[in-house]
Amino acid sequence: MSADAMKAAARARSNIALVKYWGKAPGKLNVPAVGSISITLDALWSDTELIFDPAFAADEFMLDGKHRPDQLARISACLDILRDLAGIGARAAVVSRNNFPTGAGLASSASGFAALVSAAARALGLELAPRELSIVARRGSGSAARSIFGGFVEMRAGSAADGRDSYAEPLLAAAEWPLDVVVAVTATGEKEVASGSGMMRCAQSSPFYPAWLETHPADMALCREAIRSRDFEALAEIAEASCFKMHAAAMATRPALIYWNGVTLECIGRIRQLRKSGVPVFFTVDAGPQVKAVCAPGARGAVREALAELPGVVRIIESSLGPGVETRECNS
Ligand code: DP6
Repeated sequence: MSADAMKAAARARSNIALVKYWGKAPGKLNVPAVGSISITLDALWSDTELIFDPAFAADEFMLDGKHRPDQLARISACLDILRDLAGIGARAAVVSRNNFPTGAGLASSASGFAALVSAAARALGLELAPRELSIVARRGSGSAARSIFGGFVEMRAGSAADGRDSYAEPLLAAAEWPLDVVVAVTATGEKEVASGSGMMRCAQSSPFYPAWLETHPADMALCREAIRSRDFEALAEIAEASCFKMHAAAMATRPALIYWNGVTLECIGRIRQLRKSGVPVFFTVDAGPQVKAVCAPGARGAVREALAELPGVVRIIESSLGPGVETRECNS
């Protein structure tokens, strides 16, 4: 390693959307077609260490001990933005580790890109405000813009041609409305259709996509209000509705995008039954088969037990809400 190598590390948590991001605005800046609202999870994270070194010939990326050249284009594009800002051309070696299954609908690209841009900005000595980091993270993955922040987070779609107003911002810190999340893992392995390509195919061929766009702002308003007033039942209703609507639009895509398996549906049924019987819990599912049950902290044990006993649930992951991205010096 050269004497003028620049290093830093970051930990970013994954997040799950309660009102979904699904669809992109035209252009190459990865601006979402709709806003979204998410919660950041404490227990699911990406740890990323990064070194810029003038002696490196090209960017390199390792994830969970394996070289991933397939991810390099998106990674280098984010690093290029930061290199331009710093006026530095050095290539980078990026080593990242997820403490949860990658690419299976647990938002590994969200935590991954949030950690990447935060570590890179720190290594380059750029003092970027969280909003600026969120804009750069968005270029890597739309949902990553939200993982810069902790607690409840809103992503604004924005309307500026250069994407300057397409960023995330915090709504409520984790401690202001502590909720827990119980994830039922129903399948491991990477998903067949990544969310980015899925949403683009959906926009092209799903007859329900225009309705998705048209009804989305009202969902955002209801969700914001449910969070502001800490109204669990209202949050449950809007989050489940947004999730069903996204998946309905996805299923009507040609060819169909079916992210669920049979166990996914069993979990959804069980969670809705629990809520009917008075347990404060609701579900959400992203572009994969895992089910995330969001509950009041006192209900966590009952939710875990109910999901763990369902045949086909291979693993349970539990989390409370977590903080935004953290960076540190890197000595390795
Ligand atoms: C279903 O952020 O993975 O999880 O911007 O193409 O990287 P890209 O998409 P990505 O999409 C996430 C979609 C979702 C809903 C959500 O997280 O809001």
